[in-house]
Amino acid sequence: MHLKMEQVYKKEIAQYLKAEEDHIFLYWKGRVALYALLKAMGVGKDDEVILPAFTCVVVPNAILYLSAKPVYVDIDLTTFNPRFEDIKNAVTPHTKVIICQNTYGLSSDIEKITAFAKDQNIYTVEDCAHGFGGYYNQKPNGSFCDAAFFSTQWNKPFSTGTGGFALINNNNLLESLQTVNQDLINPSIKQKLSLKLLYFVREKLINKHSYWTLIKLYRFLSKKNMILGSSSGEEISSAEMPPNYFMKLSKVQIKKGIKNIRLLPKTLVARKVNAQIYTEYLMEQGKNHVPLSFFENHSFLKYPLLAENRNEVFHLAEKHKIELGDWFNSPLHPVQKDFELWQFNPALFPNAVYAGKHIINLPTDIKDPESILQFLKI
Ligand SMILES: Cc1ncc(COP(=O)(O)O)c(C=O)c1O
Repeated sequence: MHLKMEQVYKKEIAQYLKAEEDHIFLYWKGRVALYALLKAMGVGKDDEVILPAFTCVVVPNAILYLSAKPVYVDIDLTTFNPRFEDIKNAVTPHTKVIICQNTYGLSSDIEKITAFAKDQNIYTVEDCAHGFGGYYNQKPNGSFCDAAFFSTQWNKPFSTGTGGFALINNNNLLESLQTVNQDLINPSIKQKLSLKLLYFVREKLINKHSYWTLIKLYRFLSKKNMILGSSSGEEISSAEMPPNYFMKLSKVQIKKGIKNIRLLPKTLVARKVNAQIYTEYLMEQGKNHVPLSFFENHSFLKYPLLAENRNEVFHLAEKHKIELGDWFNSPLHPVQKDFELWQFNPALFPNAVYAGKHIINLPTDIKDPESILQFLKI
């Protein structure tokens, strides 16, 4: 029964990625998929892994758990990704992998990076945590690198609560990933029940009025490890692997995934339409906006904007019941201190630090974009 559902789920995913089902591997979270991929690529001590200096802390965690060294590259403030030239300059004889992130769904210079990496015998991994269902140069996000990973955590293109999967494009990695996966453990009954409870809260209790209160409560309780959070307390306060990290996706999540991936086509259309409405309005007002040239392929999980006084904007959003996001509220979201634990020196990455202080994300999967335009007028 479980196996059949797993195959159905992989088939649904594979259709989007234009990939083969048996090249898809399911995990408890996207970060676990990244860890498995890096391990399958043989990443270990003395290896360097290049990654954006504007990401989620769980990305450098996966590198550090393998005793390798994260090598950060600052971002461009239009694409929120590193530039090809800067990545090239960060390569050393120890570089084993380059991670290309499609931040908010935006990819940048990815064809140049993969061609260069191939030439240098360096592996590439596409971090598509934000990008499932989107395209870049007519190819689905996830199809550019040796491998890709995706997240189906809350607020991702489609959700399983927590969850993720990997896609292998380089067939040479299939066998080693299968070997790595033999160490995967099953989620506990408590974890599965906890997820079910969160599904209920999310679907039945979160609305425009309760959003801000429940989101603050959720973040507080998960930081204290009192409920199943997107990240456990250990993951944001240390670079040591927490217990029970290397887990499989459960049947509970697979069931949710099958249901939600089938709703995705409608959401993808809405996101794109709303993002275009925001851009047109912001252009009219002469304010910063995502360039129109990004629209052809991008799936707009979130609409990123840089705001001068972010705290004030959040305060107003709460007052006007607008569900505003703060990805990423720091170069290593959501970490705010002790950056040296992740071998990160903020002084070296001014654009990432600036973005972490000024970014806001407008919601794109909403029925009334007019409410956002009204808000932008304030
Ligand atoms: C850019 C990026 N990469 C990786 C991840 C990890 O995904 P997950 O939470 O499924 O482990 C996230 C999480 O939000 C992310 O934003």
